[in-house]
Amino acid sequence: MSARDAAAWEELRERCANCRACVLGQTRTNSVFGVGKQDSPVLFVGEGPGQQEDLQGEPFVGAAGKLLDEMLSIIDLGRDNCYVANVVKCRPPGNRDPREGEQAACVGFLREQIALLRPKLIICLGRIAAGVLIERDYRITRQHGQWLERDGIWYTAIYHPSALLRDPRRRPETFLDLLSIREKVWEVCPELYAPRG
Ligand code: URA
Repeated sequence: MSARDAAAWEELRERCANCRACVLGQTRTNSVFGVGKQDSPVLFVGEGPGQQEDLQGEPFVGAAGKLLDEMLSIIDLGRDNCYVANVVKCRPPGNRDPREGEQAACVGFLREQIALLRPKLIICLGRIAAGVLIERDYRITRQHGQWLERDGIWYTAIYHPSALLRDPRRRPETFLDLLSIREKVWEVCPELYAPRG
C-alpha cells in the first residue's frame, strides 16, 4: 500500500472516530471502523456493531464474529487477508436495525473505505448491507448467493451470521453460498491463495 493510501486510511479512521452526524454517536462507546488488510481484494460488510463490538471497537468480535471466522475458514480466508466493515459504524441501541437516516448519515464512510480498498469482491452479510450495496429492496431469502457484477466489482449476499445463530436451518444453503464465494475468490483473486512466506 502506498504511503498516500495509508495516510488516507488514517484520516478516514480519525473522522469516523469523531463523527457525531447521527444520534448513534451519542450512545456509542467506540465507533467501529473496520478491520483487516487495507488493500485486500475481498470485503465483507455487516450491518452495524453489537454490544461487544461497541465495547471493543472492532467488528464481529461477539458470538456472530466467532461464526463469521468459521465461515471465513470455509472460504480459506482469515481476517488477515480480507477486510471486514459495517454499514453503520456506531451501535444501534438494543441492537435494533439501523434506521434509514442513520444509514444515510454513515454510508459515506463505507463508500470511502470501498474507494480506498478497491475490492474485486464484496460480500454483504445480511439484508441491510445488501439493501445498501446491491439493491434497495434486496430479498435475502430469495436472492442470497446470487452474483452481480457492477463497475468491475462482484457482489453477493449471504445470511448474516446472527441470523444463522437464530435459525440454524439456514446453514446448509449458506454452506453452498460459501463454496460459491470460495470459487469466485479463486477465479477473481487467486493471489489470495498463493502460498505465503
Ligand atoms: N453484526 C454486525 O453486523 N456487525 C458487527 O460488527 C457485529 C455484529
